Amino acid sequence: MPGKDGYDLVVVANRLPVDFSVGPAGDLAWQRSPGGLVTALEPVMRAAQGAWVGWSGAPDLAHEPFDAEGMRLVPVTLSADEIERYYEGFSNDTLWPLYHDVIAPPTYHRQWWDAYRRVNQRFADAAAEQAAQDATVWVHDYQLQLVPRMLRDLRPDLRIGFFDHIPFPPVELFGQLPWRRQIVDGLLGADVIGFQRNGDAANFVRAVRRLTDYATRGPVITMPDAEGRPGRHVRAQAFPISIDSRRFDELARTPEVQNRAKEIRADLGNPETVYLGVDRLDYTKGIRHRIKSYGELLEDGRLDVTRATFVQVASPSRENVGAYQDLREHVEILVGRVNGEFGELGHSAIHYLHHSYPPEEMAALYLAADVMLVTALRDGMNLVAKEYVAARSDERGVLVLSEFTGAADELSPGPLLVNPHDIDGMKDIIVAAASMDPKEQRRRMRRLRRKIMTDDVAKWSESFLSVLSAVQPQVSAEPRSVEASGTLADSLRAFAAQPAGRRRRRNARPSVAWLVASDFDGTLSQLVDDPKASRMTPAARAAADRIAALADELPVRLALVSGRDLHDLAEVTEAPPGTFLVGSHGAETGRATDDGIQSVPLQLSPAQHTQLDALIAGFEAAAADREGVWVQTKPGAAVVHTRLAGADDAAAVTVAADEVAANLGLQPMHGKDVVEVSVVSTSKGEALRQLRDVVADETGAQTVRIFYSGDDTTDEHAFAALEAGDLAVKIGTGDTLAQHRLPDADTLAVVLERIADELTPS
Ligand code: G6P
Repeated sequence: MPGKDGYDLVVVANRLPVDFSVGPAGDLAWQRSPGGLVTALEPVMRAAQGAWVGWSGAPDLAHEPFDAEGMRLVPVTLSADEIERYYEGFSNDTLWPLYHDVIAPPTYHRQWWDAYRRVNQRFADAAAEQAAQDATVWVHDYQLQLVPRMLRDLRPDLRIGFFDHIPFPPVELFGQLPWRRQIVDGLLGADVIGFQRNGDAANFVRAVRRLTDYATRGPVITMPDAEGRPGRHVRAQAFPISIDSRRFDELARTPEVQNRAKEIRADLGNPETVYLGVDRLDYTKGIRHRIKSYGELLEDGRLDVTRATFVQVASPSRENVGAYQDLREHVEILVGRVNGEFGELGHSAIHYLHHSYPPEEMAALYLAADVMLVTALRDGMNLVAKEYVAARSDERGVLVLSEFTGAADELSPGPLLVNPHDIDGMKDIIVAAASMDPKEQRRRMRRLRRKIMTDDVAKWSESFLSVLSAVQPQVSAEPRSVEASGTLADSLRAFAAQPAGRRRRRNARPSVAWLVASDFDGTLSQLVDDPKASRMTPAARAAADRIAALADELPVRLALVSGRDLHDLAEVTEAPPGTFLVGSHGAETGRATDDGIQSVPLQLSPAQHTQLDALIAGFEAAAADREGVWVQTKPGAAVVHTRLAGADDAAAVTVAADEVAANLGLQPMHGKDVVEVSVVSTSKGEALRQLRDVVADETGAQTVRIFYSGDDTTDEHAFAALEAGDLAVKIGTGDTLAQHRLPDADTLAVVLERIADELTPS
């Protein structure tokens, strides 16, 4: 239902999330279309008052806005001529090839550009009409890059986000576009511009630098205001999209799908190896390169048509665009040639299916396939790769993945990476994939599934919307933002507020000082398999550096608080000088200096030494012969890590570690896939209490306000040590004492930047 003046969340995308059909009596019917974007946004759309503005997919189809699937659907009408120029022309014959590394030559037509502008304006008008005061509008993809600017001109009160689902090209290619400056300005109408990969965001920021004279700092672009002074900030950042992993996983576990998978294998003659390709029939997908490699392998005798078969699903797409018609012809000639030459009665080399299938059939195909071939020449993300992984709860199957997909950036290591232009290299990998040892398959699939089952599409939309909601609205009576985020903005303001009363004189003692403290792993960094490889995300790094730099002028200090030992913490965080460092959950403290750390080494009593030795020996015995379990030792503690182990091994070793601790009279600490036992009794909370005193002494302040963020159960001790006036933010899911929650490191970085903004005197 709309609010009194419109909808609080408006999604604008080229297509509506439903397909229309004309009934026998000329009446219009619609069915939900199964796209990932709808699934992702449905819960947020239901919770906020959501409207979706989009095209129906058919020419001249005018329809009044209507309610369906818990949201308002607002159809935008396109004439046949506009479909030709805006959709088939400028979107899919100019921008699509240009943004995909000019695999096909882009066509530049001025009439197409005119239609693109006109249609973008129509989408912007429709969105402006639906949006409530101060609403959030989320615009999607390359078809609508002018909408953010047009919308801001119409409605400066809105928060505007844009997400680019396809690659953003290097400026050397983007620069070909006669309307490159207009596109950049169109996008910069948004507050947050999301991309699939860091590389895409970086390409965009480079294009801004090259084509405009706006100032950029890391991911932030500063737009000039009407007087040419620094005005609003635009953030360009990666938010890799995902799928509804749980739904796919569940679907693939149903008996119907499992039986259908067996049936498919039987229909194919139960070969030893089933290779599978699933793509929209698009020249970016590398379908020809794949078929060429496969044909050569048959020709070389390295594959045998009676023992291996290749199923290629190529769903029809953009059939009025010349390049797509040419592609279809080439692919079909190639398939015919390979089948004619190498097929035998009862044994096709390639099963080519020019259809789309419902998710149930796709899940069965994924289960039936030993090797999934994703060999795109360029792809923003590639969700087929993710669906394959989500379907394989049996931990079998091999994913061959092109280096030129967003998914490769995100999922490696795990897939077998290929360069699809290197036909010989690809042939070797196609053969190697089929003979991969089941144990190795399981190891890789587990790693892939761990990533995909947690980073799903709900998390994607949540991260994007929370970064967007942290943006300061431009012109606004009162923030009426999405969900609870408004309250976080209020808490930040209260936390950073200067105490009322006289202005502070120079050199006078401050009445308030601030300690911005945070956990590191999973909070300022993403969790990675190799703990040594963990680093702050670039956005978190920029925010931390800014806060540390405030210490020169203001009573503001930064602290990093971690379970890692102190030296390890200093090394991985590369903390700015002056940062307080708390290691081993509070057992070690120090301070970063220009050339290392200053700390008092941890002193253990002889009894503690003996305890520690017994602890380490006990842990090592418990971990022995369990795959993926390892023991780490620290100056005052021992840790068992189970991040890479199977569920059974992890459970067994956790029980054993608890027993070892109990026998020594020590208290185990349970974190994410770790059990840690310290011979020094302390906690992150205890460390924060001490730091509060240290900061008060150093700054002379009467009160120290603490901000603390953390993602793990051990951070709850820190939250528990906070007092009135402090601020606590939990990262990720799970029970917490913190007042606020954010999804990940990059969102936290936005909040830290806001703290720096608020604390910086204007
Ligand atoms: C890509 C684009 C989408 C588009 C989809 C299907 O994934 O990023 O915006 O909707 O292809 O293409 P179509 O032209 O049929 O909408």
